[in-house]
Amino acid sequence: MTDNILEVKDLSISLGGLKILENVNLTAARGEITGVIGPNGAGKTTLFNIVSGFMKPTSGSVKFNGAELIGRLPERIAKDGLVRTFQKVRGLTQLSVRENVLVGALNRRKTVREAHELVDPLLEQLGLMDYAEAITGALPIGLRKRLEVARVLAAEPELVLLDEVMGGLVPSEVQAMMDFIRQLADGGTSVILIEHHMKAVMGLSSHVVVLERGRNLAEGTPSQVTQDPGVLTAYLGEGYQHVAH
Ligand SMILES: Nc1ncnc2c1ncn2[C@@H]1O[C@H](COP(=O)(O)OP(=O)(O)OP(=O)(O)O)[C@@H](O)[C@H]1O
Ligand SMILES: [Mg+2]
Repeated sequence: MTDNILEVKDLSISLGGLKILENVNLTAARGEITGVIGPNGAGKTTLFNIVSGFMKPTSGSVKFNGAELIGRLPERIAKDGLVRTFQKVRGLTQLSVRENVLVGALNRRKTVREAHELVDPLLEQLGLMDYAEAITGALPIGLRKRLEVARVLAAEPELVLLDEVMGGLVPSEVQAMMDFIRQLADGGTSVILIEHHMKAVMGLSSHVVVLERGRNLAEGTPSQVTQDPGVLTAYLGEGYQHVAH
């Protein structure tokens, strides 16, 4: 039997009278990279919002390590070992890169001194050392995306939800981010990746879940998903063709 770190069952949410998610299911295997794809507005970020405790579903269940997360606050969920990045990068814009990662590290470490020990290795791994003292608000998007990843990983999660961390990166940065995510999973951290960058999500994920208009459309290995006629129809854009050929 597969060891699932996360099990989402029949998750539904309505906002402003509209059904945004309808009976969505997703399982993520421990230590693996699970991809979540789907056209704009499919409900991917909403799914992350619910799993990480930022939104309450109308119905359904989210189990992390077998325990129900619905009803827990985001801070508690993060302390329990599940963190997420934000598609619209957050972070404390008046603070330096180093200070932002330090704040993330204080989620788990009791003293500033202990937290400091986590910061430099993360800055190094994400290529942020040269910008450690830069004020976050002034950074270009590529660096802010990397900082967003460093910030949440400083909480030493078991499971990290990454929401379009490749968005706005140049190709060399995409490759570096892919290498980093692969190393993260190899090191034992489970990853769920929302990504429009098809080459990245298909290259990294062992299992891919496809959402469309708030529902599950397909799932399977990257090759199964890219050959699925329903997925092809949903994705007649450039991204899909890039994978198909
Ligand atoms: N707070 C909200 N109130 C009302 N509607 C919302 C709210 N948040 C999201 N939606 C709607 O829910 C749908 C799904 O949005 P969501 O951001 O989850 O999509 P997504 O799959 O992440 O899209 P993208 O790929 O563009 O990031 C969209 O139609 C969006 O307009
Ligand atoms: Mg989104």
